[in-house]
Amino acid sequence: MIAPPILALLSLSATALASKCNQHHESTINYTTISGYFLQDEPTTDPLSFDYTMVNYGLLNRSYTTDKEFDPHGKKTQWQRFAHHVDMLNRKAEKNTQYKVLFMARHGEGYHNAAESYYGTPAWNCYWGPLDGNGTIVWKDARLTTTGLAQCAKANNFWRQALIEAKIPAPQAYYSSPLTRSATTANLTFADLELPAVRPFAPTVKELLREGISIRSCDERSSKSAIAALLPNFRFEYGFTEEDLLWRGHDGKGETEDAQEVRAKAALDDIFVQDESTWISITTHSGQIRTALKVLGHREFGLSTGQAIPVLVKARKVAAVPATTVESFTAEATCEAPPVTSVQGQGCVCSSAASVVVAVEATPTSA
Ligand SMILES: *[C@@H]1O[C@H](CO)[C@@H](O)[C@H](O)[C@H]1NC(C)=O
Ligand SMILES: *[C@@H]1O[C@H](CO)[C@@H](O)[C@H](O)[C@H]1NC(C)=O
Ligand SMILES: *[C@@H]1O[C@H](CO)[C@@H](O)[C@H](O)[C@H]1NC(C)=O
Ligand SMILES: *[C@@H]1O[C@H](CO)[C@@H](O)[C@H](O)[C@H]1NC(C)=O
Repeated sequence: MIAPPILALLSLSATALASKCNQHHESTINYTTISGYFLQDEPTTDPLSFDYTMVNYGLLNRSYTTDKEFDPHGKKTQWQRFAHHVDMLNRKAEKNTQYKVLFMARHGEGYHNAAESYYGTPAWNCYWGPLDGNGTIVWKDARLTTTGLAQCAKANNFWRQALIEAKIPAPQAYYSSPLTRSATTANLTFADLELPAVRPFAPTVKELLREGISIRSCDERSSKSAIAALLPNFRFEYGFTEEDLLWRGHDGKGETEDAQEVRAKAALDDIFVQDESTWISITTHSGQIRTALKVLGHREFGLSTGQAIPVLVKARKVAAVPATTVESFTAEATCEAPPVTSVQGQGCVCSSAASVVVAVEATPTSA
């Protein structure tokens, strides 16, 4: 079988991907988070209780060196002055350096989130998660619950008001995970806003923005045509395959953290190499954002459902480092019935009647 483009991309290292798109064979992208601009950058901000919609997306109230020339009479909003400051950073940047502001949002609550809370994480991971649902609800490629829909409406209200009053820059580009909960969240968050004509809501689905590819059915995506039918206004990146070729739950195998990090960097590299926009919206998942923040050198900041985080990113094209090989998928154990519990580092503790189910071979492959 000929590898489709996405799989071919995944089998390359992030380094190779960046250089392939650049037609320079020896470069990669080095990311740093420029802190001091957002509350979420501060070590003292508690992610658990944080709500970006209450605090202007977290933008700190401060002055910038560029205020004097841009806003001598103090008439501009914080976002206008910040946007001007970021423009200046880009204008003065060295040739191999660019700055972007990422608005990274986690989807609203999905049926899989509700089920994990209902059953508890051990029972979810070891038994329920790999099933498609429980007879009452379906959590395979989960849709949003009413709570999730309300979180999207809240995000939509935030943007509606912030665009008008705070004059937050509208995203120039929108990217979404292919999983239904995130794509729907993007759709509802940016629906019916008064956006500048040159910055319409025209989202692109990117395979590599999906959640960690666990054996659970919530991490298996729907077909391209099903996504297109649900969200006709969404575009698909080049090479997006009809079927989900990455999920390996049927073999009892899940993506490793190392592989997820390579994938998160590849997704960012792809966006940074191909998209000249400065203001970029990315709607994705808790695990994917956690991993992206690590790649970007941001402090850890766990997002609740429906929450979002802005990051000012400095990206430099640098000489490539030798590609490392990581184990991409490993077997994940489960139980044949709801487990007694699961133990960190040890896995599922099945009841004596229900034996552990482990996929047989777990051959390391290169990611
Ligand atoms: C990126 O560059 C900075 C400054 O040169 C360096 O300290 C850092 O280790 C680099 N990060 C990565 C991931 O290579
Ligand atoms: C900045 O000030 C405004 C108006 O006083 C306030 O609404 C907003 O929450 C402040 N932002 C932060 C991050 O403290
Ligand atoms: C299925 O899970 C939901 C929680 O997400 C729960 O409310 C419902 O009662 C469960 N159904 C059955 C048959 O246990
Ligand atoms: C997408 O958004 C449009 C409004 O902009 C709405 O009519 C439609 O129902 C939404 N679809 C989904 C699946 O969220």
